[in-house]
Amino acid sequence: MTATASFCSQSALVSIIGAGNVGSTLGQRLVEKNLADVVLLDVQPGRPKGLALDLMEARGVERHDRTILGTDDYTQTQNSDLIVIAAGIARKPGMSRDDLLKINAGIVVDVVKQAIAHSPEAIVLVVTNPLDVMTYLAWEAAKIPSHRILGMAGVLDAARFGTFIALELNVSIVDVNAMVLGGHGDLMVPLPRYSTVSGIPITELMSEATIERLVERTRNGGAEIVSLMQAGSAYFAPASSACAMVESILYDRARILPAAVYLNGEYGLSDLFIGVPACLGRGGVNQVLELELLDREQQALQASANAIRQSIADAKALLG
Ligand code: NAI
Ligand code: 2OP
Repeated sequence: MTATASFCSQSALVSIIGAGNVGSTLGQRLVEKNLADVVLLDVQPGRPKGLALDLMEARGVERHDRTILGTDDYTQTQNSDLIVIAAGIARKPGMSRDDLLKINAGIVVDVVKQAIAHSPEAIVLVVTNPLDVMTYLAWEAAKIPSHRILGMAGVLDAARFGTFIALELNVSIVDVNAMVLGGHGDLMVPLPRYSTVSGIPITELMSEATIERLVERTRNGGAEIVSLMQAGSAYFAPASSACAMVESILYDRARILPAAVYLNGEYGLSDLFIGVPACLGRGGVNQVLELELLDREQQALQASANAIRQSIADAKALLG
């Protein structure tokens, strides 16, 4: 047989910095959904190489031609279309998200500078916690336009809220669309009025007390899993959430997803990254959508923003 055409077409390249639980699971999702070639980079040199080889060998069963490379060398990430920052330490039992601030701030600033130096045109998706603060620090360190950098948390928080809604009502998750605004922390702002089952707001389907119980469970969603696992934190749903965002960006799907994006006056907030609905496409953040909020919802968003601002100030003081 004479090969007259290439069997492997040119594809998007995603570099994932931090080949831990979230990073490696995201790498698996991306290649097995046939969305992109992947480079997995970690400070532990053997780990990404071993994981990448394992995932390459799985191709014999999963039947896809995407490649995944493990490395500790940033030159291998050259010309990535998208960089995911999932390097850092995960929350341990008894540790709040903000306890992570000091260690992860140093890591995120260092890795984003190295990654963007090798892929100056890339979109950057931050996953490391505390998410909204890390996204801000990464933006400052990367020195790229704000529409090219965003954080993943709202998709995860909304997925959790949606799951609890579906379980409570005993309906298919397929018909549930939940919305969560604000920072990825105890002050996040789940929005029952904008959370629907087949277009019906859940405020018409459940009592206030039931909704409040589900909202509280959503706010504690990360901590609930940490306390069950005892070591490490959630990674399957976080990886799925990041994957949905990567897909919308790389394939210009223009999905409207809650994401930590830079605000410049929207919702009365400026100069911070916080979770709001945004249209995600090839340019990164194509548009920020402003929902009409009730006074109490706006106040809750403001309280969340205040906490993020304080953490940014704390992080900057720690970094010196
Ligand atoms: P993990 O501990 O399994 O993996 C972290 C990886 O980062 C490790 O392999 C470690 O070697 C690597 N790393 C540390 N310093 C590095 C550096 N300077 N350069 C390159 N790699 C480095 O943690 P996991 O579970 O993967 O979580 C990663 C981060 O994502 C944590 O901060 C966690 O809190 C956060 N997270 C955020 C979520 C969100 O919704 N935004 C959801 C889940 C996790
Ligand atoms: C979560 O919400 C740890 O932020 C992570 O599961």
